[in-house]
Amino acid sequence: MKIAILGTGYVGLSTGVCLSQIGHQVTCLDINEQKIVQLRKGISPIYEPGLDDLLTMNMAAGKLKFTTSQPEALANAEIIIVAVGTPQGDDGAADLSYLVQASKDISSYINHDTIIVIKSTVPVGTNDFIKKLIEDYCGFPVKMVSNPEFLRQGSAIDDTLKADRIIIGSENEEAASKIQKMYRPLNVEVIITSTKSAEMIKYASNAFLATKISYINEIANLCEAVGADVQDVARGMGKDKRIGEEFLYAGIGYGGSCFPKDVKALLHTAGVNGVKFPLLKETIAINDFQREVLVAKVLKRFGGLKGKKIAMLGLAFKPETDDMREAPSIPIAAALTKYGAEVVAYDPVATDNARKIIGDSIKYAGSIDEAVHEADAVLIVTEWKEVKSIDVAEMLAKMKEPIIFDGRNCFPEETIRACGSVEYYPIGKPAIII
Ligand SMILES: NC(=O)c1ccc[n+]([C@@H]2O[C@H](COP(=O)([O-])OP(=O)(O)OC[C@H]3O[C@@H](n4cnc5c(N)ncnc54)[C@H](O)[C@@H]3O)[C@@H](O)[C@H]2O)c1
Repeated sequence: MKIAILGTGYVGLSTGVCLSQIGHQVTCLDINEQKIVQLRKGISPIYEPGLDDLLTMNMAAGKLKFTTSQPEALANAEIIIVAVGTPQGDDGAADLSYLVQASKDISSYINHDTIIVIKSTVPVGTNDFIKKLIEDYCGFPVKMVSNPEFLRQGSAIDDTLKADRIIIGSENEEAASKIQKMYRPLNVEVIITSTKSAEMIKYASNAFLATKISYINEIANLCEAVGADVQDVARGMGKDKRIGEEFLYAGIGYGGSCFPKDVKALLHTAGVNGVKFPLLKETIAINDFQREVLVAKVLKRFGGLKGKKIAMLGLAFKPETDDMREAPSIPIAAALTKYGAEVVAYDPVATDNARKIIGDSIKYAGSIDEAVHEADAVLIVTEWKEVKSIDVAEMLAKMKEPIIFDGRNCFPEETIRACGSVEYYPIGKPAIII
């Protein structure tokens, strides 16, 4: 099938690469010229494991193209997939301005048979609103499909090629069946629903996962108060199939480009529809509190931070991505510098993106060794493999004081106890002070 994708971000690019991999002819369109110039050279503008190989392979096979030209991408497309950003607006609702512009762009080039697929995360009712908008511009009825995306950054390619499910929401049977056919080579279970249900499935899923994280973080805080170990508790809970093991990792809260904005957008949708949804308010409040837990522990241990060198390991909002959107490292860096600490951060891939947001208020190291050299304490912010596989004793030997605040519970108790003299402050577990 001839497919055009609008937006070559984490979702659009991963989708484009995977659809070309399963045999479709894909043209990816973006308004960001720099991205397209890079992509045409086979260079991915984002870090995503496995993406580069599939990108170059499918470009070489002539199945994947990149352009900034709307007529080139849209004029002959059978299917147009919209994957532009829907960031958080000032009032908490999703900002649909990119989507509205993309829809206007589309309306100039579609014909009667083109199917428009909204993959961006959009509030319930948006597909209907976009349908009307496009029809008002182009003057004929269009076929819409809501096809929300569930990939996780850091495993986007695997999540797309081996998805748990594909949601297809449409009021047009022919369009739904064509999109089902488009995905058939993936051999993934397809759930067909109304457009509104498909839109709701995406928000309900993300808000549920965010709530699961806030729940285990609240349990972690209680574990600390009563002397229990949240990792043991989570293991015990997760073996119950009704609960499941995923998203039961206590830490410093969720971040990233989706959970924070999607929870707030769902709360906004509830509000405008007269539904209070206090559970979501608590999910957000617990997460805001959890982002401050690590700094509170540092302050409790040191009193003031003037003249202290703090090494921050990890900047990205989670491992295997260079995305800094809503990363807990941002408020943590701001708080530490506000209290006078000298912060030296290390991240394997997110440093350039972090510098654009955090700026020069902190220093950036090229290695873990450089970051921890003569540090008064280490803060673990992102659980990168490189961080988890560190030789803790060796790291401590390079520091001024052997103090670790672990926001991601990276190290087993035996590893820490084997280090000799150490102060180790994890989340939701007793501290180890030897
Ligand atoms: N990132 C994720 O993990 C993830 C997962 C599931 C769903 N989503 C949702 O998917 C959507 C996209 O997310 P993302 O993280 O890929 O966004 P992104 O910000 O990384 O990328 C969006 C891209 O769209 C481009 N764009 C904007 N207007 C355009 C237009 N008129 N024509 C062509 N391109 C245009 C931008 O230049 C940008 O490159 C959002 O709604 C998001 O909530 C994201």
